[in-house]
Amino acid sequence: MSFGKGFFGKRSTTNLSKIETTFYSKRIVEKKERKILPMINESFKIAIDIGYGQVKGLSSLGGRVCFPSVSAPAPVDPLGEAFGTRTSHLTAVRVPEGPKVERLVGEAALRSLAATSTLTREKPVDLHDLFLVTAAYLLSPDTGVPPTVRSPKLSVGLPLAYYRAQKGDLKKRLSGLAAYVSVDGGPERWVSFAGVIVLPQGAGVALAEAGSLPDGLVGVVDVGTYTTDYLLLEVSGGRPMPLADACGSVEMGVHLITRAVAEAFQAATGAPLPAWAEKRALEKAARGETLKFSGRDVDLTAAFRPAVRDAAAGIAQRVLAAWGNRAPFVELTLLAGGGAILLQDYLEKALPCARIVEDPVFANCRGYLAVL
Ligand SMILES: Nc1ncnc2c1ncn2[C@@H]1O[C@H](COP(=O)(O)OP(=O)(O)OP(=O)(O)O)[C@@H](O)[C@H]1O
Ligand SMILES: [Mg+2]
Repeated sequence: MSFGKGFFGKRSTTNLSKIETTFYSKRIVEKKERKILPMINESFKIAIDIGYGQVKGLSSLGGRVCFPSVSAPAPVDPLGEAFGTRTSHLTAVRVPEGPKVERLVGEAALRSLAATSTLTREKPVDLHDLFLVTAAYLLSPDTGVPPTVRSPKLSVGLPLAYYRAQKGDLKKRLSGLAAYVSVDGGPERWVSFAGVIVLPQGAGVALAEAGSLPDGLVGVVDVGTYTTDYLLLEVSGGRPMPLADACGSVEMGVHLITRAVAEAFQAATGAPLPAWAEKRALEKAARGETLKFSGRDVDLTAAFRPAVRDAAAGIAQRVLAAWGNRAPFVELTLLAGGGAILLQDYLEKALPCARIVEDPVFANCRGYLAVL
């Protein structure tokens, strides 16, 4: 595993993208810019972390989104209007001269019987980009003028295991990505990016905490839904340098706990636990509460606790093996990702000088945003 040079450094800014300038005459651009600039200045930035379980995003204007990484066909919704509610999210995407494509994304898709299960190992391009434009749209401020004149700068992540092989292709693809997008019936907006940075997952966590790292060896463990990314950094004068042979990904994460809870549910009820109910089942089990099913109270806590312990032990073992004889010298291990919340008690004991970072689910995004 190796990291590009200047990886932790700042990048230069870019101006209006080519596509935008072809859409507007200079005079119109200047007029619209005057109107928009107080809200979107030259450095409007967004950071998006497309995980196997959930998509997270932050913007430099304080925007924040999080939705499950699930998509489904858009249904005819005969009841939504009557209840005055909208399905969240319904994304419509249209490339110039192409047809409009509508898909359910996030919570709404999770509830659909036709849900495309969450991302597979090699995140399919269409699904990845659908999540990306949905998050980008939701993070962009509503300026009241169609479409936004300035595209944001974008920073995204890739699992460490794929970083080297895929970062070039991903950057190229996202730099050229442009489409008209509307989410949840909002005004159609032109979504494109004025510069793209691709970073390895986990690196965002270190970048987010860069100002407060002690000199010496610092570890990062980002526990996700399907993968746990880990890094070991040599910090000198506040500058972190990754130690390539001690960084990597393991296919272990919260899904191990979800699977144990789902198996216990099936054993107790004879029915499979639907995908949309997994989160609630996990939360109930974590709080020691029972789950109602067919009028019965189903207790999943007996399956939850050992699953948490085993997942934490498995992850810690793999990370410590990769860090080898450097592990006892580690000054600080930063725990991040949604899994860190569930495994905190075990990982803080098993890993050297471990502490959970603030707002661990968004830690990568914070770091991605900081380098733009
Ligand atoms: N606030 C929370 N409290 C408890 N558990 C949470 C919380 N937020 C997320 N989780 C759980 O942590 C898991 C991992 O969340 P996270 O967003 O870090 O994963 P991901 O980035 O989608 O996955 P991966 O890194 O494998 O691609 C989620 O699937 C969820 O079950
Ligand atoms: Mg993640």
